[in-house]
Amino acid sequence: MQCVRSLPNWLGSPCDAIVLAIPENWRAAPHLTEADQATNGLLSRLLESGEVSTKPWKTTVVQAPAGIATKQLVLVGTGAASDWNPLTAGRAAGAGMKLLASKSREVVRFVGFTGSGEVERAAVTGAMIGCVGQDLFRKEKSLYEPESLEWHDLQEENLRKGFAIGESINLTRKLVNLPPNYMYPESFAEAAQGVAQQYQLSIEIWDKAKLENERCGSLLGVARGSVKEPRLVVLQYRGAEPTVAPIALVGKGVTFDSGGYSIKPTDGMLTMKCDMAGAATVLGIMQAAARLQARCNLVAVVGLVENLISGDAFKLGDVLTARSGKTIEIHNTDAEGRLVLADCLDVAAGYSPSKIVDFATLTGACCVALGNDISGLMTNAPQWQSEIKSAAERCGEYVWPLPMHSFFSEQIAGKVADIKNVGEGRWGGAITAAKFLEEFVQQIPWTHIDIAGPSFLDSPKAWCDAGGSGTLVRTFAELLSSS
Ligand code: BES
Ligand code: MN
Ligand code: ZN
Repeated sequence: MQCVRSLPNWLGSPCDAIVLAIPENWRAAPHLTEADQATNGLLSRLLESGEVSTKPWKTTVVQAPAGIATKQLVLVGTGAASDWNPLTAGRAAGAGMKLLASKSREVVRFVGFTGSGEVERAAVTGAMIGCVGQDLFRKEKSLYEPESLEWHDLQEENLRKGFAIGESINLTRKLVNLPPNYMYPESFAEAAQGVAQQYQLSIEIWDKAKLENERCGSLLGVARGSVKEPRLVVLQYRGAEPTVAPIALVGKGVTFDSGGYSIKPTDGMLTMKCDMAGAATVLGIMQAAARLQARCNLVAVVGLVENLISGDAFKLGDVLTARSGKTIEIHNTDAEGRLVLADCLDVAAGYSPSKIVDFATLTGACCVALGNDISGLMTNAPQWQSEIKSAAERCGEYVWPLPMHSFFSEQIAGKVADIKNVGEGRWGGAITAAKFLEEFVQQIPWTHIDIAGPSFLDSPKAWCDAGGSGTLVRTFAELLSSS
């Protein structure tokens, strides 16, 4: 697929479909006045009839409108002018695109998506998300990418950047959507290698022997139950002077989480291929940063394991020794993500980063606290957290902070070992998990993002298929490339 600017004569140059943004105050929108004139008042008649919704991302199809050189027109509501933001623009473009993507098409043109840089880029990424689905292994696809998306009256630079971010989000989504018999530690590492080669990132892949040499006992403890060997991948991007400390991006890459001996019920286990979404998010952000030539240095660390059961798997009561030297009592083998991250955070800290952010599908408790559409933020550095929060707000992605009072740490004190891998009971489970991670970040400013809810959609939305969502790739692509 390609994204290009449309010819100025957007009404007269032929295409398969046009997605027209329809704000509540449609009479004031110049592109709708033009379209109304070209169609001899068809648009205003339709809108005045009340049959066309101007509510955000509601769609109406008009076949073969006389006066416009298109086979069909998709009217997509965008609501009040005050709501013309990246969220609305992205979802509106996505909903129009997804509706059209049920068939394969050559040229789809988008009109009325002009706005701020973030708005225009979000519209482009939204459309790119809308036409890519989770149907990776279906002969008959449920969604087809058009050959070309044309954009009327968008800045060239926003188009180029939006396209790069869109491809990075779709990379993350694809990695999450690949089934766990295709996406396992070694194959994820190969995918990372591919990205590194294509975008000139430096890469180091630690295999099991190297992980043993590095004493990554916490990560290796989780990996023991699987015949698939673990990997740890370090990627580096250099976009600033070598003297500038890097920002570290850390990702949980549990390519399948059965729960181990604390086994999950079938319903909870079914979607656990999504448990590497943190790692996939980090890879998507690295690709986006490289393509946007962000002016910063980045180091990415992702820990890749499969959490299974075998005669040699880790057990309740086992004590693991993390790379940092801390000892960990295992009280629940399903609290494995924090064990993987413990060693990844320690490796990341070794690069003396100015700050760390980690992405993880860490706890069901975070979904209980915030629902499925909001990622939880937890930090030892409120300033770094609020930078992330405002970037997410600018990009139309939902995040919200959870408190990190020191008394939560009492819950993870160990009896046999330094710490244990779960809190006392379920309450505040997202926070006790974060408190566990905090043990491994030394004094470095760090924010943990629990993406257990938003990273994987159980059911489709009008603007995006079910499955991997690529949440927060856009926010960090924007945040890292904006300075
Ligand atoms: N991968 C899960 C968390 C998760 C749940 C992600 C639902 C996405 C959707 C994680 O490893 C886990 O199992 N956490 C446990 C922790 C508990 C045992 C302390 C949980 O949330 O139940
Ligand atoms: Mn688990
Ligand atoms: Zn997990």
